[in-house]
Amino acid sequence: EINIKIEQVESKMHKVLAIETSCDETSVSIVSNIGDTFKIHSNIIASQIEDHSKWGGVVPELAARKHLELLPFVLEKAIAESKITIQEIDYIASTVAPGLVGCLRVGSITARTLCMLYAKPFLGIHHLEGHLSSILFSENYPKKSFLTLLVSGGHTELIKVDERRLMQRLGKSFDDAAGEAFDKVGRLLGLSYPGGPAIEKIAKNGDPFKFNLPKCRISDKKGGFLKYDFSFSGLKTAVLRLVEKINLDGETLPVPDIAASFERVVAEVLVERTIKCANDHGLDNVVVVGGVAANNTLRKMMISEASKKSIKVHLAPLNLCTDNAAMIGAAALFRIKFKDHLSSLKLGVSGRLSIEQANTLYEENPPF
Ligand code: KG4
Ligand code: ZN
Repeated sequence: EINIKIEQVESKMHKVLAIETSCDETSVSIVSNIGDTFKIHSNIIASQIEDHSKWGGVVPELAARKHLELLPFVLEKAIAESKITIQEIDYIASTVAPGLVGCLRVGSITARTLCMLYAKPFLGIHHLEGHLSSILFSENYPKKSFLTLLVSGGHTELIKVDERRLMQRLGKSFDDAAGEAFDKVGRLLGLSYPGGPAIEKIAKNGDPFKFNLPKCRISDKKGGFLKYDFSFSGLKTAVLRLVEKINLDGETLPVPDIAASFERVVAEVLVERTIKCANDHGLDNVVVVGGVAANNTLRKMMISEASKKSIKVHLAPLNLCTDNAAMIGAAALFRIKFKDHLSSLKLGVSGRLSIEQANTLYEENPPF
C-alpha cells in the first residue's frame, strides 16, 4: 500500500513559476518535474550586461531599477512561451538570498504578490542552491550525496550536498571569487566585461604555459595550508605586476598568452582542490556549477583529472551556468518533492546567507 502511495505522488507533475533577480539578470522560468525528470517549459533571461559594462561591473542601484523595468515583461513572456497558465502553476518561487538586496526585493515582492493573488504556495530560494540545482536538468545527475564546486562571480565554494538537501561547506575563497578574478584580470588586460567569456575567447590563441603564475593558498593557523580553500587576489596581483613589468620594458602585451596562463592556473587550482576534497570525503560524484563552470578549460580538466580517481563529473548544462530562473525553479521542485518545504509569505530578503542556513528559509518564523 505504501509503495502505491509513493508511486502516485511521484507520477504527479508539479509546476513551478520561478523568478531570479539577485544580480544583473532579470529572469522568469516555468519548470516542472515528474519524479526524477525535470523539464524547462520556458526560461526568459533579460541580461543587463550592456547597461553595466561601461562601468566595468554591476552597479547595484542601476540593476535594481532595471529589474523593476523589465520584470513584468519577462514574466509575461515566460508565461506565454510555456503555454501554461498561471492558474495551472502549483508553486511560485523566487531567489531571496544572497545577492544585491535592492535587486532581490523586486523578485521577492513580485513572487509573493502573485502567491496572494492566485492562492499559490511560496518558496524562497537560496541563490547558490539554485546554481547547484541546475544539474537536475542534466542526464544522470547524482541521486546520492555529492560534492559541488560552485564557481560564480560572487562565490567560490565546495559544498557537500546530501539526499535531504543538508549542505555543508567544506571550502571557500577567503578573498576574490573565481569569476571576480576573471572579471578583474579581464579589465587589466583591456578586455570587455564580463571578463570570463572574454578571457576564454582570447586565450584560445595563447600559450597556457608561457607564464608561471602563483597558485595561492591560505595558511592554516595550526601549520601548513588549508586544503580545500581558495585565494585569488594574489593571482590577480601577480597578473597586474606582470602587466606592469611588460609595459615598463616597452614591449607589447601578449594578451592571449597572459589570458591562457591565467585561465590554466585558475582551472588547475579549482580542479586539484575539488578532487582532493571529494577523495578525502569519499564522495565519488562531483558537480560543477555557476558562471565559471561555462569555462571549457575547467570543464575538460575536471573530467580528465576526476577520471584518474574514478570520480564522476556532472557539469551544469552550458546555457544554465550563468544566472537564470530555471535553476531556481529546479531548487523549488526538489524542496517540494522531498519535504514539502514551503516559505512564509512574511519571508523577506537578505544580502548574505550561508548555504548551510538554506533550510531556515522554510521555517514558520522566517529568519529575515
Ligand atoms: O553565476 P553568475 O552568472 O553570477 C553570479 O551569481 O555571480 O556568474 C558570473 C561570473 C562572472 O564573473 C563571469 O566572468 C564568469 O561567471 N564567467 C566565466 C565564463 N562565463 C561567465 N568565467 C570563465 N569562463 C567563462 N566562459
Ligand atoms: Zn549566480
